[in-house]
Amino acid sequence: MAATLPPPSADARAASETLASDIAGSIAAAGGWIGFDRFMALALYTPGIGYYGGGARKFGAEGDFVTAPELSPAFAQTLAAQLQQLQACCPAHIIEVGGGSGKLASDLLLELEWQHGLPESYAILELSGELRRRQRDTIGRRAPHLLPRVHWLDELPARFSGLVLANEVLDAMPAQLVRWDADGISERGVTVAGGRFAWADRPASGHLLDRARALAAECGISRPYLSEISLAAQAWVRQWARILDQGALLLIDYGFPRREYYHPQRDRGTLMCHYRHHSHDDPFYLPGLQDITVHVDFTAVVESGCGEGLDLLGYTTQSAFLFNCGLADILARTPVDDTLRYLPLANAVQKLVSPAEMGELFKVMALGKRIAAPLRGFCTGDRSAGL
Ligand SMILES: C[S@@+](CC[C@H](N)C(=O)[O-])C[C@H]1O[C@@H](n2cnc3c(N)ncnc32)[C@H](O)[C@@H]1O
Repeated sequence: MAATLPPPSADARAASETLASDIAGSIAAAGGWIGFDRFMALALYTPGIGYYGGGARKFGAEGDFVTAPELSPAFAQTLAAQLQQLQACCPAHIIEVGGGSGKLASDLLLELEWQHGLPESYAILELSGELRRRQRDTIGRRAPHLLPRVHWLDELPARFSGLVLANEVLDAMPAQLVRWDADGISERGVTVAGGRFAWADRPASGHLLDRARALAAECGISRPYLSEISLAAQAWVRQWARILDQGALLLIDYGFPRREYYHPQRDRGTLMCHYRHHSHDDPFYLPGLQDITVHVDFTAVVESGCGEGLDLLGYTTQSAFLFNCGLADILARTPVDDTLRYLPLANAVQKLVSPAEMGELFKVMALGKRIAAPLRGFCTGDRSAGL
């Protein structure tokens, strides 16, 4: 595979080798084996050299992948309509989790200002110091007068009333790999063999084993079968459920309801790596230089939230959500005969909503507390009943 992918610079390769050696050290210190979730956490979040912890370009055409906010401001402009409606139902405070390049924050704030609906506060919860700097730069460049309204959080607040926004965050949380075989259930982890990372399976135990058994019973998992269980994402949703006094979580990500996630044909799971716009399934390739993701089991998300007192306010495809929130009106703001502006916009919108691109695979879920109004984003095409 390496032969077909663009080579990294000498500096990037050196940083990757340092990270690989650090991870190998962690494996040795743990007795020769770590769970895949630990490997993923180290590869993505080691300060300075992990993929999100370090300086890799990541987002956009020159990076490794493109997220919806990077494609077009139309994404944030449309999302703003939903936030406006929600801000009328609860305190107008927004926390964006995992702020990426800062594009979503700047476009959202500009749109909310234009709609006379700026929130009282806008915070970004960001794990990476490098991304924080980039977010500050982006907002300072695109919306300098709004920068003083933005502040950054190191950790989840103790209590919060308002809106929490997370675009492509759940998929970046460390997940465990599980194998269901005829003779039992194992956790797939990582060891070092012959100077390289290698897969190694151990009998699953504890909460992971309980979850894996429950999934096998519920979804009729045929064996052999390999997939992921994202306990960290579920714990994160439960944590927010306990923190939130009033308000909503808007979660946007690629994924499915459980029955689709653990479908018999998806017997190699959803683990995916992104490197310079190439997607592949080898998480050991150039640690720190590529993104590692898993799809989201939205049934697990809703169970986690509702089990801790949140209500499911809606669940639908990105395409339905954006159209419900007025995407066509946003598109109509740009005259068709202004081809230099209209054509790139139409092209980006097509990517956001096309079933062959992000429109169907990406879902939007709203979970909330003390929000009575039916939400605009789910007024048609709500798929909550299928979760
Ligand atoms: C794929 S990027 C998405 C960035 C941005 N939201 C966008 O759409 O362009 C994933 C982001 O999630 C962040 N992230 C993952 N787990 C997190 C957590 N537990 N708390 C805060 N941020 C997290 C990563 O640091 C990274 O910025």
